[in-house]
Formats: sequence, structure tokens, C-alpha cells
Amino acid sequence: MNAQRVSVAVIGASGYTGVELLRLLARHPHVDLVAVAAKRAAGRRIDDVFGNLRGVLDLMVEEFDAASIAARAQVAFCALPHGESAPIVADLVARGVRVFDLSADFRLHDEAAWQQWYAHEAGAPHPASALLAKAVYGLPERHRAALRDAALVAVPGCYPTASILAIAPLLAAGLVVANGLIIDAKSGVSGAGRSPALGAHFPEIAEGIRAYKVAGTHRHTPEIEQELSLAANTQLQILFTPHLVPMSRGILACVYAQPSNATVDAAQLRAAMVAAYSHEPFVTVLPAGVLPDTAHVRGSNRAQIAVEFDQRSGRVLTMAAIDNLVKGAAGQAVQCMNIALGLVETAGLEQIALFP
Ligand SMILES: NC(=O)c1ccc[n+]([C@@H]2O[C@H](COP(=O)([O-])OP(=O)(O)OC[C@H]3O[C@@H](n4cnc5c(N)ncnc54)[C@H](OP(=O)(O)O)[C@@H]3O)[C@@H](O)[C@H]2O)c1
Repeated sequence: MNAQRVSVAVIGASGYTGVELLRLLARHPHVDLVAVAAKRAAGRRIDDVFGNLRGVLDLMVEEFDAASIAARAQVAFCALPHGESAPIVADLVARGVRVFDLSADFRLHDEAAWQQWYAHEAGAPHPASALLAKAVYGLPERHRAALRDAALVAVPGCYPTASILAIAPLLAAGLVVANGLIIDAKSGVSGAGRSPALGAHFPEIAEGIRAYKVAGTHRHTPEIEQELSLAANTQLQILFTPHLVPMSRGILACVYAQPSNATVDAAQLRAAMVAAYSHEPFVTVLPAGVLPDTAHVRGSNRAQIAVEFDQRSGRVLTMAAIDNLVKGAAGQAVQCMNIALGLVETAGLEQIALFP
């Protein structure tokens, strides 16, 4: 593959992560966007589907055809609903296309876990189970080495990205107790995708904040547990409570943990976090007392992290803010592509957050 020019297709281009991929890839210094595909939007100009692409992209949305995509693209980003993605990904991988999949279809390494959380019917087999062991979990801060030369990357979910970045370094350093972590996270409404739904309708969400899929029922739970168990080197379980808040973009995850022993202090916690992220191009550990804000990462591939020790309760509190559509999806996918292809990791991702 010519590392300097890369031909790229986006499948699922008419959704929210799809348009974010197009925004980033259209200005990526090494990328030629050669095809955009979707389902209901097929046959329309992409800049009719998304007005922000007028004057930027002159492409027609196609129906997905694996042979046609493989003939033109070295790389495909799949931004499809879970379940829809796996057969399309498998077809592209079999044709030698390098795939970055934004769905959950290849994130869980264990097929039994996938069956429990995602199968349409209990015990139904994964549609491309042979690829589960080959897919690399695309969180560069945890799996950068495995991403080099990866043929299939499972790009993490938005809640998992924020949650894992917030606490994995402290688990890896043995500073917090692995079990009993509480993750309390808030997301903007674009996390639910572009398809109209009553639960995302302006009057229904504009004036309130609500928890949903509580008590171990949200599908991001096993993904967070898989990755935090790897960091802690022991199987752990979390209590994860997601919330919907009336904003378009952004995730703020707060993680509450028990220190692993009585000598753990704020300086040690901060030092572990700084050591984990000091060389990361997109993660900022904030100074003591400064707290992350989704408004400070909006539109950027950055994560902001804070770590605090509450002397009164003896609890550790960490926080991460990301843009769910960028570091939580499209930006992270592009970061993974850059690593997998040996490009500069930050290429096409240097946007500063849009503020205010
Ligand atoms: N939204 C987020 O913050 C976020 C973050 C991380 C990961 N993700 C994951 O990323 C994936 C995409 O999410 P999204 O929010 O972008 O969803 P979305 O807005 O609902 O978009 C879904 C896209 O998939 C297309 N599509 C559906 N079935 C298809 C098929 N059989 N062939 C071709 N195209 C098909 C749709 O096309 P038409 O509309 O034209 O039919 C649309 O372009 C999901 O798996 C989601 O879980 C989302």
C-alpha cells in the first residue's frame, strides 16, 4: 500500500458518525475519498444529505456493493448499526480491504459475551465469528502496538472510550480496587444516531436529564469490563449508569473507585495518570482542581482527564470528557487508520475544539 495516498470508502456515510468521518477524511492529507455508501440515502448527492459538505465533497451516495468498493478502496470505514455491519465487514475483509468498523460487532473477543448482549436470539452464532479473534480493539492508548498493520479494527464505543481512558491507568498501576467501580456517564443525543426516534425528539429531551438502561443492562457494559479487566489483569465487574443530557455532542464519564490500600494519595494517583498519558497526542491530564468539560473537546479528537482523591470519603474520583462523535467514534477510527498504515498518528486530526 502506498502510505502517502490512501483510497478510502465510507459505508454508512449518511449517519452521524458517517458525516463526522467525511468531515475529517475530506481534509486528511493522505486520503482520497473514493466512495460513500448507505441504504435509504443511496442515489442522493452526499452534500444534499449533509449541507455542511456543500462545496467540500462532490460524491453520490451508492448502494453498498462489496466488489465495487474493493475495486476502488484500500480502506473502508463502516459506520453501520450493529448487526448490519458484520456481514459487510466480513465481505470487505475477505476481498483484502482494510476495515475500521465503528459498530459493536467485533469489539467483544468472546463469542459467548456477544451472544449474551447482541444476538437477536439467545445462542445464535456470530455472523463472522472467525474474525472476532483477528479484530484489534481500536483504543490506541491501550493497544497501539497491536494496531500496527491490523487488517480489521473494532473501534470502541463512545461510553467505553471515556470510561476506559478515565480509570485504566489506575487499575494498571494497582492503585484502585478492581471490583466495585462505579461509572456514571452522561451523553449528548447524537450518541443515538440520526434515525428519528421519540426518545431523541426535541420536546422530549430538551428540558430534562435522565438515566437509561441502568443496572447492568446497557450494551457497553461488557466492552468496558473486557478492557478494564485487561488493564487490571483480573476479571472485574462494573456498575455503569448512562444518562442522556440535552446537548448534541459530548460525553462526560465520572468513575468512582476505592483506593487499593491506605497509603494511596492524590500525588500517586496523579503521577500514574500523567505517566500513562504524557506521550499521548490526544489525551490531556488536567492540572489539579481543573475539571473536564465537554464544551472544551467539542469537534476535536481530544480527551480531557481529571483525577481527584476525596479525603473525607476515602474515594478516588476520575473523569473524562470526549466528543462522542470524534474521540468516541470517527476521530478515533481515523487515529487507528493512521497507526495501522504507518502514517503520522495525528494526521487529519489536529482540529482544536470548537468553542464556545
Ligand atoms: N453516534 C455515536 O455517537 C456513536 C459513537 C460510537 C459508535 N457508534 C456506532 O457507530 C455506528 C453508526 O452509528 P451512527 O450514530 O452514525 O448511526 P446512524 O446515524 O443511525 O447511521 C447509520 C448509517 O448506516 C446506514 N445503513 C444502515 N443499514 C445499512 C446497510 N444495510 N447498508 C448500507 N448502509 C446501511 C444508514 O444509511 P441510511 O440512513 O441511508 O439508510 C446510515 O448511513 C453504530 O454501530 C453505532 O453504535 C456511534
